[in-house]
Amino acid sequence: MRYRPLSSRLYSKNRELFMQAMRSGGLAIFNSNDIYPISADSTLPFAQHRDIFYLCGINQEESILLLFPNSPKPEHREILFIKKTNELIAVWEGQKLTKNQASALSGIQTILWLDEFEALFEALAKVAKVFYFNTNEHFRAKVETQTREDRFIRWAKAKFPSHPNEKSNFILQKLRSVKDDEEIHQIKNAINITEKGFRRILPFVKPGIWEFEIEAELAHEFLKNRSDGFAYNPIIASGKNCNVLHYVDNNKQCQSGDLILIDVGAAYGNYASDMTRTIPVSGKFTPRQREVYEAVLRVEKNAMQLLVPGILLKEYHQEVGQIMTNELIGLGLLNQTMVKNQDPEKPAYKKYFMHGTSHHLGLDTHDYGLVDQPLHANMVLTVEPGIYIPEEGFGIRIEDDVVTQEHGLPINLTENIPKEPDEIEQLMKQA
Ligand code: GLY
Ligand code: MN
Ligand code: MN
Repeated sequence: MRYRPLSSRLYSKNRELFMQAMRSGGLAIFNSNDIYPISADSTLPFAQHRDIFYLCGINQEESILLLFPNSPKPEHREILFIKKTNELIAVWEGQKLTKNQASALSGIQTILWLDEFEALFEALAKVAKVFYFNTNEHFRAKVETQTREDRFIRWAKAKFPSHPNEKSNFILQKLRSVKDDEEIHQIKNAINITEKGFRRILPFVKPGIWEFEIEAELAHEFLKNRSDGFAYNPIIASGKNCNVLHYVDNNKQCQSGDLILIDVGAAYGNYASDMTRTIPVSGKFTPRQREVYEAVLRVEKNAMQLLVPGILLKEYHQEVGQIMTNELIGLGLLNQTMVKNQDPEKPAYKKYFMHGTSHHLGLDTHDYGLVDQPLHANMVLTVEPGIYIPEEGFGIRIEDDVVTQEHGLPINLTENIPKEPDEIEQLMKQA
C-alpha cells in the first residue's frame, strides 16, 4: 500500500457510532464509487467514496458495506462484500483484497464475495424495517451524474417499494465532522507532504517560470512522499489570475513584479490537506503587495483565534467580515461612508473578499459538517481569508488548517509552512 492505513479500531468505532444513531430495525447500505469512464476504454483513476472508506477503510472498487445492528444473526450485523478476484484480473490489474486482508483492514468479521450480495440483501431486507440510503446531501454538492449508490437506491426501491427510508447522510455529517486523533494524524501527514512541496518551490520560482512548472514540482514532491496526489485541482495563479478564484488552467508564464497565489494540498490515505500561500515571482514583495499581504495575514491570525467550541460558523463569518472591513479601510479600499451605507446582506468588504473564511477539512477537502450547528472540539477547519484587487493586478490569500480544542485556541496544523513575508523572501533567495 502506498499509504499507512489507519487502524481497524477506528473503523469499528465509526461503524459502532453510526449504528447507535440508527433507528431500530434499520439496514444501511454503502457503495463504492464507480470507476468513471472518459471515452473508448479510458477511465479516470479510481477514487473511493469517502463514506464507505470512513466506515471500513476499504479502498477498492465495487465494495459494498451493510450495517444491520438488530440483525437476528450476529454475523449479519456488519457485512462487507468485495469483488472476487480471478487469474485474469490478477494478470491485468494485479492484487485485489483477499477476505483476510479486508477483514484485517476493516475489523469486519463477515467478508463475502460480491456475487453473494443480491440474495443476502434481499433476505435481510425482508426482516429490516427501514433502509438507510446514502444520498449526497453536502450543501455545496452539484452532481449531474448518476452514481453507483444512486443506481443501487433505485434498484432497492423498485424491489422493496413499501420500505421507508432514512438518510445516512445526517448521521455521517455529524460523525465525520469530529475527527479522531488517528484522522488528525493522517491529515497532518498530508500537510507535512504539502509543506515539503511548498519548500521545494520557494527557491525554484523565478521570473519566466510557467505556472505548470510549479505544479509539476509540487506533483513530484507529493508523489515521492507517498501522497495519493493533489487533494483537489491545484490553483497556481500568477498576476491577474490571482483574482480568478477557481483558476486551474495553470498555463501562464510568471512575470517579475507579479504575485503567485498557490492553493494546493497533498492527499494522503484519502485525507486532504488544503493550503494557500501567495509569493512574489521576483522573490520580493513590492511595498503595496506587502502592505496588503500583512493585512490578510492579520485577518487570518485573528480569525483563527475565533474557532473555539460553541461558536456558529455564521457568527464567525460575521466577525471575520468586521475584521476584514477594518483592514480594507486601512488599505484605502473602503471608507467609512461605504461601510455606513452598506447593505447588511451584501456587506462592502465582499467586493474584495467574496468567499467564506473556513470550511471543514478531512476525507473531503470541503468536508462534512452540519453548518448550522455550533463547533465542537476536534473539528478540522481551514482559515483562508483573501483580498483580491483586480484594479491593482493582484490578489492574496493565505490558508491554514487548524483543529479546534476542547479548551482554548485551536492548534494550527500548518504552522510549519512558511507564511511570514520575511521568511518567504529569505527562502526564495536560496537558489
Ligand atoms: N482549495 C479549495 C479551498 O480552499 O477551499
Ligand atoms: Mn485551498
Ligand atoms: Mn480551503
